[in-house]
Order: sequence, then structure tokens, then C-alpha cells
Amino acid sequence: SSSSSNSSTKRNLIVVSNRLPLSVKRSEDGSYLSSISSGGLVTSLSGLTKTTSFQWFGWPGLNPKEPEEREEIRRSLSAHNAVPVFLDERLAQAHYNGFSNSILWPILHYQSGVTFDEEPWNAYKKVNEIFADYITEAAQNGEMIWVHDYHLMLLPQMLRERMTRKGRSPCIGFSLHTPFPAAEALRVLPVARDLLQGMLSSTVVGFHTEDYRMNFAESCHNLLGAKPQDHMIFFKDRLVRTGKFTVGIDPGKFTDTLKKDDVQDRIQQLGERYKDVKVILGVDRLDYIKGLTQKLHGYEQFLTEYPNWQGKIVLIQVAVPSREDVKEYQDLETQISCQVGKINGKFSHADYAPIIYLHKSIPFSELAALYSIADVCLLTSSRDGMNLVAFEYVACQEQRNGVLVLSEFAGASVFMGNGIIKFHPANTKEISQSIHKALLMNKEERKERYGKLRRFIDENTSAKWGHDFVEKLSAGAQ
Ligand code: F6P
Repeated sequence: SSSSSNSSTKRNLIVVSNRLPLSVKRSEDGSYLSSISSGGLVTSLSGLTKTTSFQWFGWPGLNPKEPEEREEIRRSLSAHNAVPVFLDERLAQAHYNGFSNSILWPILHYQSGVTFDEEPWNAYKKVNEIFADYITEAAQNGEMIWVHDYHLMLLPQMLRERMTRKGRSPCIGFSLHTPFPAAEALRVLPVARDLLQGMLSSTVVGFHTEDYRMNFAESCHNLLGAKPQDHMIFFKDRLVRTGKFTVGIDPGKFTDTLKKDDVQDRIQQLGERYKDVKVILGVDRLDYIKGLTQKLHGYEQFLTEYPNWQGKIVLIQVAVPSREDVKEYQDLETQISCQVGKINGKFSHADYAPIIYLHKSIPFSELAALYSIADVCLLTSSRDGMNLVAFEYVACQEQRNGVLVLSEFAGASVFMGNGIIKFHPANTKEISQSIHKALLMNKEERKERYGKLRRFIDENTSAKWGHDFVEKLSAGAQ
């Protein structure tokens, strides 16, 4: 109704996530430097800032003791409408690395062998409480609160309790940016019920795909005895709405960047450098869920199975450092660089190497240039909430109409249908054959597939995602 859309435009919005769009670091001379954070959540929410204004609360990544220093961080973030939630460093580590990334993340992505520990769990609860205190304080005027991701699953419940005690009627949305696993996989976690109850205190809970949403409903039913019906869940006298909200990117940001003179120069330079070969591009956070080991196996198999391509193909793999304090991620880095070394050792010549491996994050303009010169983009996630790199590649391929080769376990593959070449990431032979198929695809077929993908990413932007969620949230709060 018009009244609900009126109220939705009048209510202010508070967004909460663990990571802020800017990561603050202290430089050697003592001043604070901020850089744009990487990852899907930041990509989608940053796109939303174009159309919707909100205050964004999150952990700034460091915790200076001096009030002046805190003030300096506050001031620099406020230019981006971001507000720091300061956390004691040890506590933040135990919450982020200890529980969120070492225990919860593997379970959400079906990695077995997780052991539960009380200490990181306590830190997780404590950090959720600190966030709840900050947000309760900030949301005194009926603001809508939109909580993001697995680091803050208890927050909706803590907020609801605090706000109800103060006689306010809370309007809380929760969006998950990872897969939601089947009930049987979630059950491995002894505190699964607490997390489900935390999320169920929201007004609306959003997922990237319908499968994830159904897994959540099933978990609430099996583990809590809640009653799912249609897209709602009844629990403890409350009705919780659930939905699939298709997250996206801001394609215009890429199109605009590609028009810049220096980026065009770079594209030409790279085009010249790779004029005699085809380029396969991979861009992933260095995370075991991205299936980098499998990607390299598949590529090695391709070079072996189709030896004519040796010397005529280059894989440029950007592996953005991520969660480097967690042992699994350190071990993975060692394993990947070893694998890259092995393949390069085997197939290189004095004037050719089949893999260019960048273990670093690269500037946005360089990323756009790489996306635009790549003939194929290869993404091999073993599990992945959505995977927005797939969207970003499409955004930069208007000219070339390159081929997207995407794992069937990335959320994005559900939506991209026959626009992509889809494969099972554990099937090495299938990776190899998919690469081959992508390289041989003729111009007409590429154009046709590209058209579908382009329409999809243009229709499902981050701005639309945010708008749809907020609409649903404000409707639920009536
Ligand atoms: O993909 C899930 C996710 O939580 C994203 O939402 C986030 O941007 C990404 O992982 C990066 O994680 P981190 O905050 O640990 O760098």
C-alpha cells in the first residue's frame, strides 16, 4: 500500500555487519589509513549506498586505547556513513577467527571435522552483545535495523530483548551471505539451536537462494519445533517472514571504470602482452570453499589432455589474502603455491608459463581491466553463498562476450541457467572439458549466452536487492 511505502521512506535505516566497507590500518608513522574491504558483502552493500542512505555499523579492525585516536577513526569513517564498533582485540580475534571462521564457517559450507570450543563461543556471544548495546543506543527513533551475516546471528534476539524491555517495537532484518546448510549438517554444532533462535528473532530473514531458505525452515522445524508455513515460520507466538533476495552488484561501477583513459591504456597493454594466447581468469578470496586446489587440478588435467593448448593458454589467478590468522587458510596458501609451482615447473618454457599467480589484492581499475581482457572466467567453488565475481566478470565483458565457467555449487549458478558452462567442482575431468568447451565456443553462441547473463546482472543489482529487502522489512513491521 502507499502508506507502507511512505513509512519505508521515512524510517531511517541502520545496517550492521562485522566488516565495514573500509578497513582501517595504522601506518608506520602512526597515522590511520583506510582501504576498501574485499568480499561479497561489501560489494553488495556498497552498491546499495547509491540509492539508499544508511548508517553502517561494524568492527573497524583495530582498537586504539587513546580517546583521540578513536575519535580520528570515527571521523574518517563517518565520511562514509560508517560507525566503528570498538572491540577488545583478543575478544575480536576469538569471535572472528575462533568461532565465526574456524567453527561456524566450515559448518555453513559442509566441511566436516569441526570441534566445538566453549571459549570462542563465549567470545561470539559477547561480541554480539556489544553490538546489541551499540545498536540499541543508536536506534532510538524507530530505525529499521538490517543485520548481516554469520558473525552476528545472535544479534536479532539480543536487540529484540533490549528494545522490547525499553518499550520499543523492533524492526529487524537479517541477511545471510553464505549457504544455509541442511539441518543434518547444522546439527553437528552443539549451539545450533541458539543460532536459529537468534535469527528467528528477526522480522524478516533473507537468503541468497530458495534452497538455503528451505534448509533454514527445515532446521527451525527439526531442531526447535517451529512451524514453517509458506514463506513464514511461527515460533514462540511470533511470525517470522523468510525470503530469497537475489543479491547483485552495481554494474555501472565497472562500466564507468572501463571507460577511463588509464584503464583503456591498461587494457591495450594487457591485450598486447597476451595477444598470442587465450586468457582464463580466476579471482577468489584465498579460501578453501573457492575450490582453488580443484581448479588447479582441473587446469593441469586440461593441459595434459589437450596438449595442443600448451603455450597458447594462460591462467591468471588472483587469490586475495583472507583470514590469514586461521591455520586452515595458512595451510591452503602453502598448498596452492606449491601446486602452482608444480604446474608451472612442468609446463613452462623459457618464454612461457601457464599460470600467473597473484597472491594479493589488486586495485579496482586493474581488476576491471583483467575482467575485460579474459576470454574465460573459471570459478570452482565447492560451496559458495552466491559468488559475485561471476557477476563482475559479466559486467566487464560487453565487448568480448567471454565465457563464464561456474561451479554448480555457487549460488549464482542457480540463476545463470544456460548462460554459463556449469560443472561439478569435484570432477576434475569435467573441469578440464568445460575449459575446452569454453575455448572452442563460437561467437554466436557466446553472444547469445552473454546476452542472458547481462540482462540478469542488470536486472538484479545490489540496489534492487537492498530496496526489495527494505520494502519487505518495512511491510513486516506494520
Ligand atoms: O561470502 C561470505 C562473506 O561473509 C561475505 O559476506 C564477506 O564479504 C566475505 O565472506 C569476506 O569475509 P571476511 O569479512 O572474513 O573478509
